[in-house]
Amino acid sequence: MQINVKVNGVEYTNEVEPMMSLATYLREELRLTGTHIGCDTSSCGACTITIDGKAVKSCTVFAVQVDGSDITTIEGLAENGEMHPLQAAFKENHGLQCGFCTPGMIMTSVDLLKENPNPTEDEIRHGLEGNFCRCTGYHNIVKSIQHAAESMK
Ligand code: FES
Ligand code: FES
Repeated sequence: MQINVKVNGVEYTNEVEPMMSLATYLREELRLTGTHIGCDTSSCGACTITIDGKAVKSCTVFAVQVDGSDITTIEGLAENGEMHPLQAAFKENHGLQCGFCTPGMIMTSVDLLKENPNPTEDEIRHGLEGNFCRCTGYHNIVKSIQHAAESMK
């Protein structure tokens, strides 16, 4: 089936299999491998991207379902060579170790801060409930998001 999507500001037209997940489409057709696949069963959040501004686990969506949508992946966050404030905050605050969960954590946080620019620690932890990290114990991830929220004011 043919789909037309905008990804990170670029228009794409591709033929895809009806059962191809959006995560697989992004990684294998567009070579945007910053979107990670950890579980492929909607549990870990590593594959989170935004569709029309809303954070979505891309392994749970078929590519054909996003025909006509505007998608942002982790590769689309930096502007003019400058990291997005969330990327910078994760770097500054040691919000990652192996980095596998990081693209999903950041894309979830983009939506979280858009909806709630001044989240409490509890609200951040609640917002990250669908994203797992095996390395950090979450403390520095939460701290990173708090610092990003401050710097985005
Ligand atoms: S790979 Fe999509 S939620 Fe884990
Ligand atoms: S930094 Fe390793 S899984 Fe989160």
